[in-house]
Amino acid sequence: MLIAANFKTNKTRAQTREYYRAVSSYIAENNIASEAMIFPPATALDSFDGAISVGAQNAYAVENGAFTGEIGLEQLDEFGIKTILIGHSERRHILGESQELLVQKFDYFKEQGFTIVYCIGEPLEVREEGSEVLIGYLDDQLEGIDLDYKNLVIAYEPVWAIGTGLTPSADEVELIHTALRQKIECKILYGGSVKTANAEELLALENVDGALIGSGALKVDDYCTILSIADSLNK
Ligand code: PGA
Repeated sequence: MLIAANFKTNKTRAQTREYYRAVSSYIAENNIASEAMIFPPATALDSFDGAISVGAQNAYAVENGAFTGEIGLEQLDEFGIKTILIGHSERRHILGESQELLVQKFDYFKEQGFTIVYCIGEPLEVREEGSEVLIGYLDDQLEGIDLDYKNLVIAYEPVWAIGTGLTPSADEVELIHTALRQKIECKILYGGSVKTANAEELLALENVDGALIGSGALKVDDYCTILSIADSLNK
């Protein structure tokens, strides 16, 4: 299983180093076999030497150039970063990234051989229209994405479940993951208010291959607890 922590706009460089160190020790001491991955803010990207993969929350589809406020491949290469999050709902809905831009990023980082965690998820008004409309909406977010890409991971994160403490029911999560599984072979993570209290129930579901976690993973202890829950499920 893959347990990914998305720090969003949290943690400094020093705090990220400390988190990495503490989680690495936990993994080594407890023989954790699940894959650990973290997405620190761009300012905390660095060279890390250990069992946890480190990815960028965002980058522009370019090696370098005149794109004020963005980072490109050159800045990721400096630290050997080969993992990126694309399509997170906060970038789609708050920062206004279009499907076209996301496909452009996807193609660029695919070309570079990156592991791409590609996020999809519906707003509440779409969910309220029923599963058929919901699945159609997710299909649109997969438009233009090479689902056969060997380093692809999909994260299904309902927008209304992100940072709200709300989650779909276990049956609802399973229904969507099973529908996605029909067209996607790669790992499918669930995201949206995953925390220590609900991790076991969500991770145990069929076709859930891990989690993408925001606030519930900010504390080292919580993240480590979820890693060991994933491990104990032995999927
Ligand atoms: P959350 O965020 O766990 O705080 O709901 C998940 C995410 O945005 O990836």
